[in-house]
Order: sequence, then C-alpha cells, then structure tokens
Amino acid sequence: AGSVPESAWSFQFPELEAAVDETHHVAEGYDADILIRWGDPVAPGAPAFDPMHQTAEAQEQQFGYNNDFIGFVPLPAGSDSADHGLLCINHEYTNEELMFPNYEQPTAETVAIEMAAHGHSVIEVQRGRDGKWSYRKDSPYNRRYSLRSTEMAISGPAAGHPRLQTSHDSSGTRVIGTVNNCAGGVTPWNTVLIAEENFHGYFKGENADPAEAQNHTRYGVPGGWYAWADFDDRFDIGKEPHEPNRFGWMVEYDPYDPSFTPVKRTAMGRFKHEGAETIENKDGRVVSVMGDDQRFDYVYKFVSYGRVDHNNRTNNFGLLDSGTLYVARFNEDGTVDWLPIVYGTGPLTPENGFNSQADVLIETRRAADLLGATPMDRPEDVAPDAQEGKIYVMLTSNEKRKPDATHPANPRAGNSAGHVLEIDVTDGDFAGLQDRWDILVLAGDPNDPNAGAQWGKGTSQHGWFVNPDNAVVDHRGRLWISTDGNDQETSGRADGVWAIETKGDLRGSSRHFFRCPVGAEMCGPFFTPDDGTLFVAVQHPGDAEGSTFENPVTRWPDFDDNLPVRPAVVAITRNEGGQIG
Ligand code: FEO
Ligand code: CA
Ligand code: CA
Ligand code: CA
Repeated sequence: AGSVPESAWSFQFPELEAAVDETHHVAEGYDADILIRWGDPVAPGAPAFDPMHQTAEAQEQQFGYNNDFIGFVPLPAGSDSADHGLLCINHEYTNEELMFPNYEQPTAETVAIEMAAHGHSVIEVQRGRDGKWSYRKDSPYNRRYSLRSTEMAISGPAAGHPRLQTSHDSSGTRVIGTVNNCAGGVTPWNTVLIAEENFHGYFKGENADPAEAQNHTRYGVPGGWYAWADFDDRFDIGKEPHEPNRFGWMVEYDPYDPSFTPVKRTAMGRFKHEGAETIENKDGRVVSVMGDDQRFDYVYKFVSYGRVDHNNRTNNFGLLDSGTLYVARFNEDGTVDWLPIVYGTGPLTPENGFNSQADVLIETRRAADLLGATPMDRPEDVAPDAQEGKIYVMLTSNEKRKPDATHPANPRAGNSAGHVLEIDVTDGDFAGLQDRWDILVLAGDPNDPNAGAQWGKGTSQHGWFVNPDNAVVDHRGRLWISTDGNDQETSGRADGVWAIETKGDLRGSSRHFFRCPVGAEMCGPFFTPDDGTLFVAVQHPGDAEGSTFENPVTRWPDFDDNLPVRPAVVAITRNEGGQIG
C-alpha cells in the first residue's frame, strides 16, 4: 500500500502526516485560517465574547457552540461568486464543562445559554486581495437562529396534525427553534437545509400520552442527555408529550432573507436526520438524499412532485412540501430498491396504526421497519454526484452488529471503523426505483489483519481513517470525507479530512489533507463554487476525559490562558491560489 507513483493520483497535494497534537494542520502548500469562533459577534452590534460572564442574551447574538454543517451561497444572489457570499453554519450541541467556568450542574442561566448556543448562524464572508477570508460584523445578512427564541413554521402533510399540537401551540404549525442541527445541505435554488438529529436527548420525564408510547420508544425519547426539562416544561414529556413530534425534521430557510421564517418540511420525514443534500434531477424534479444516524437505521431519499423553476426562485420554496419519501433496501445481488413510504400502501394502514400520511411521516422509522428497509451501520452524510450519477453513503460504525446479522452492504460484525458505499444511479435518474450499490471503502487500519479494512492500493499509513461522517464531492467527481471518531486510542490519529479517488486504478485510495486539534471532530467540509476554498468546522475541540473550562487538553484556537478552548470554522486555501486538491 502507498507505493504507487505520485503521478498516478489525481490529487496533487503532498500528503499530511496522520498524528494527534494540540493544533490543526493542513497539507503543505495550503493555508488553514480561523474564520470565526464560538462567542464571536454575529448579529450586528453583538457584545464581545466574555466567557467568564456569559449571558443568554449575549450568546443569542454571538456564534454558537459546536459548529457542524457549513454551506456557502454566493453574493450577489444569483451570481457564481466564489469570493463573496453567506456562510451558513449549524450549531449542533453544547459541552458544559468546556463552556462554563467551574461548571458543576445546570442552572436556569446555563440552560438558557445552551439553548441560545444551539441552532444556526449566517455570516457574510469575503475573500480579500491577499486571498484571506474574513466576515463582515455589520452585515444586515448576519443572524442567529436559536432554540431559545426563533419562531419556526411547520409545513407539509404533518403540519397542524393533532399529534403536533401542544399547550403552547394549538395550531401544530409554529415551534420555537431547532435542535441538534448536525449536517444539512444547500438546495439548487440556494436555500439552506438544516437537519434535526438527536432530538431525543433533550427530553425527560414520564410520557403522558399512551398513544405516543410506541412512537417515542422507536426514537429513544426521552433520552435524558440534558436536564433542560427541569427548567422548561416543553422538554418534559410528562407535561408536553407531543413536543418531541415537533423535532426530527429537515428545516429550510432563505439565507438571503433575514425576515424569512425557517420552516420544518414534514414531507421529508421524521428521524435523526444527519443532513440532506439536494440535486436537480435530469427531469427537473428535486431529489434529496438523507441518512438516519443510528445503529441499524436507514437511508432515505425524497423526490418532489414539482420541478425546479429557474426563472422565479421563490417558486421553488414549496418543492420540498410535496413529493414521495423513499427508504432504501440494499439487496444481496447488488441492487438497491427505493421503497415508497406512502399512507394506504402495503403495511402503512390503520391496522398498523397509521391513519394518514401525517401519521406515516411522524413515525417514519416504524413505517420503514414495516416496509423491510435494510438496517445500516449508522448512516451519516449521503452525498450525491449529479454529474456522475453516483451517491456516496457514509456509514460511520456499528459495534453492535452481530456476526449472524451481517449483510453484504454492512459486511463486518462489530463494525467499529465504518465504511463507505457507492450507489450507481441507473441511467443517471435519481428519481428511479432501482439502482446498484458497491463498497467503496471498508475503513480501518489496512495493516491490521483483524480489522478487515479494504482501501484502494494507493493508501499510505497516513491515508487511512476510521468513522467517515461528512462528505462532499468536488467538481472533478472526487470525494472528500471528514471523520468523527479518530483519536490516539482508536487509530493513533486525529479526526480530519481525507481525499478519496473515486475512479480508475486508484479508486478507493485515500490521502490525508487536514487534521483537527486533539478532542475535536471534523465537520462541514464545503467548497466554494470554484473549488478554490474548502471551509471546515472543528467541532468540540478539547473534548476529552477530564478536560474542563479551566484545564482543557488544548486551548485551540487562541492558545490564550484567559480563553477557553473554542469550536471554530477554518478556511482552507492554496498559497498559490487555484483549485484545492
Ligand atoms: Fe451529528 Fe450523525 O452526527
Ligand atoms: Ca457532530
Ligand atoms: Ca455528523
Ligand atoms: Ca458522527
């Protein structure tokens, strides 16, 4: 492995060394500069970061915690500018011990700050003559969406259903905020999709509505990760048993319109949405491909009824409200069937407790169970390549897969390293009902015979990784994967970005490009339209056993003893300019 000539690779950058230390690193010839950090001002006039005296009011105007998804849309709107635009960033969750001085237990104030630190940020960014990125602190586009106060709408077939009604919202169509926003996507009409992933973790209590018992159990509600229910009744399912049904959706908003009310698109299903990448199919319909990130859960796609309108952008804003949701069945013969999740067909009937499409969507997972979808090894990002007619599926791990429950598409028992599937879309029609699948990579150490890893022959000792999570395809059809789970113990290397050949002799060969500081997960890889900048998100740096606000294992990115470790977004560019890779 790793002994093929350099000229055989399509990637030109010198490979980065795989290792773990207190800071970030990028391949030689590239710069990786901090763009924005937790606590930096976002809304115009936001107060400066004061970590010893943080307040919910300040946090709600500042960059949130744990940046995950990143999307870039050009400015001016409708242009293909690659040096001026809006950067749209998810804030997935909070790490109290790293955020708060002398943290012992939650208080009303820490909980309010955490709710304010969840959600999403929009910032106006530009690339200067020196090639460096910065953001405009006074931009009218800049804004925060938070779980604490941002009103959102609910649309599509489940909107207004009694199962979405609560004592605060008898309409079942308005909800405060969004939670656990993991990955997402940018649509062909340049709106942004943000995913609600592990919503179950925010709820506590004894379920007060027996009719929801089966539903809540299937999603792990209540997860009890946070004590928020002790301070806010809406997270107590003893008081608000329908509130969990208002989370677990895809949220769409218009980055160009700060007055736009973000909207939860129920037609796209309810599960632990990792993200949703959307393409325009060759017939003009839109297709979103999506993963449900839990062990033994499924891969989905949504196909719109309507077609993209290229003349009037806002005509596309309802496309994700009506269409067909499908779940994937990976067959042993190498085919994959897309099974429609439609009320009244097959088992999705009143005998099984479904009385409408709203019921089917609220309990998407149970509907998919009954249809016979294939249980996967934790589907994270699902990345389409519209040009090449491929879909890449990141399966991050599944240590609970038993030897007698392996399947050719999930071939390893106790799969701690994860793998990547490639779907070959039949005739390039992403709306079709049957495609073919293949394994691109079985992750893990290629030198460990017990790992069962499978890599392209160009992969060096620095080129392998475990736990693929987010992914993007560049304009040359090559895959860039970010990871969540590498560390000294699992792989002797930090999480980061690896570039993967998808074609030719070196297909499945992986090359290390960027790595995170210790304790961090790598998220958000997103290219500008010219592939000239790769934005990445360093999530939960310093997150390690015993690491605290006072004594973190790293003080990245400031390395100032008066500042805590901070999640941050990094802009990667080539010293000489030109395309990344
Ligand atoms: Fe939030 Fe599936 O990672
Ligand atoms: Ca994450
Ligand atoms: Ca993820
Ligand atoms: Ca993950």
